[in-house]
Amino acid sequence: MTVFDSPEFDRHEQVVFCADADSGLRAIIAIHNTNLGPGLGGCRMWPYADDAEALQDALRLARGMTYKSAITGLPYGGGKSVIIGDPKTQKTEALLRAMGRFIDTLGGRYQTAEDVGTTVTDMDILRQETEFAHGLSGASGDPSPATAYGVFMGLRAALYFKHERDDLRGLTVAVQGLGNVGKRLCRYLADAGARLIVADIREDAMQAAIRDFGATPVSPDAIHKIEADVFAPCALGAILNDATIPDLRAGIVAGSANNQLAEPRHGEALRERGVLYAPDYVINAGGLIDIHVGEDGGDQEAVLKRTAEIYNTTLTILERAAREERATDTIADRMAEERFRGQRKARAA
Ligand SMILES: NC(=O)c1ccc[n+]([C@@H]2O[C@H](COP(=O)([O-])OP(=O)(O)OC[C@H]3O[C@@H](n4cnc5c(N)ncnc54)[C@H](O)[C@@H]3O)[C@@H](O)[C@H]2O)c1
Repeated sequence: MTVFDSPEFDRHEQVVFCADADSGLRAIIAIHNTNLGPGLGGCRMWPYADDAEALQDALRLARGMTYKSAITGLPYGGGKSVIIGDPKTQKTEALLRAMGRFIDTLGGRYQTAEDVGTTVTDMDILRQETEFAHGLSGASGDPSPATAYGVFMGLRAALYFKHERDDLRGLTVAVQGLGNVGKRLCRYLADAGARLIVADIREDAMQAAIRDFGATPVSPDAIHKIEADVFAPCALGAILNDATIPDLRAGIVAGSANNQLAEPRHGEALRERGVLYAPDYVINAGGLIDIHVGEDGGDQEAVLKRTAEIYNTTLTILERAAREERATDTIADRMAEERFRGQRKARAA
């Protein structure tokens, strides 16, 4: 396994391998960039096949957080931690406490929150060992409501850019995934007058969407092919790929799922097809905003107010992409880089 030569490494500042024999903890903490502030990013627990897979995930996710914080205008850098193990069977208080102690040794250069395989309650345990754990129960808690609101605002910005109208009345949105974010996004869309077509692999989630929003159900492998104004991926990563892009019939893609593009070149493939893509990490940053505003003592109203700014950020990116005739994700990356790399130059001057 190589670290410095890994394609995901991309100028990480620090990568920490953590092992605690007593609790069985094996974890990796990746800090990509701290020019704008401490590397903030969730703590994921997952039964990775091997160390190399865990490392790749940590590096990829930490880098993504640098871009997300920068484009959102938050005072954070990018970091992420992964615990190697099955959260259903291997997560113990001792293991989480050991993780908390490792995070604490970094003195705030890395700060964590919940992620796949960890919960708000787990953050409460980490917090007993380190002050650098966020999203505690009773504090900011579940980030999904803010994430859903941010996606709704980003989706409307994309509509405005394409059609010079951002109301949803009479429009059709195809939503893939009706989990914590997807079902809340459906609520915003339905309240705004959109017709919903939905898919989930969970039958109970489908039934709830039919009942609550009058949604039309379709099979999970058909949802991206639906003739709709917007396709909103809120389930899996890599949903925009060589196989799915030729089948898309919606003019806009705007959803919460992380890493929607299977490969960077797929952003350009969407542009060539005339599909307007609202970059995932730009419009799904509500959860991060929730943590930031919550830590500052802000309430839910303050979170939503700050999250609403995703509308203007998205619009700025879409306008610049059109002007420069580039893919929207390329422009989002560039704008984020201008912020976090520019900051280092400013400090050095
Ligand atoms: N929760 C947040 O605040 C947040 C923040 C940023 C990004 N995201 C991303 O948004 C996405 C959704 O997050 P979530 O918190 O709602 O997760 P979730 O696990 O609550 O919901 C995901 C839903 O997708 C469904 N699903 C899985 N495979 C599917 C398939 N093939 N077809 C259709 N449906 C399928 C699942 O059954 C589930 O209902 C994820 O990619 C997540 O990384 C979430």
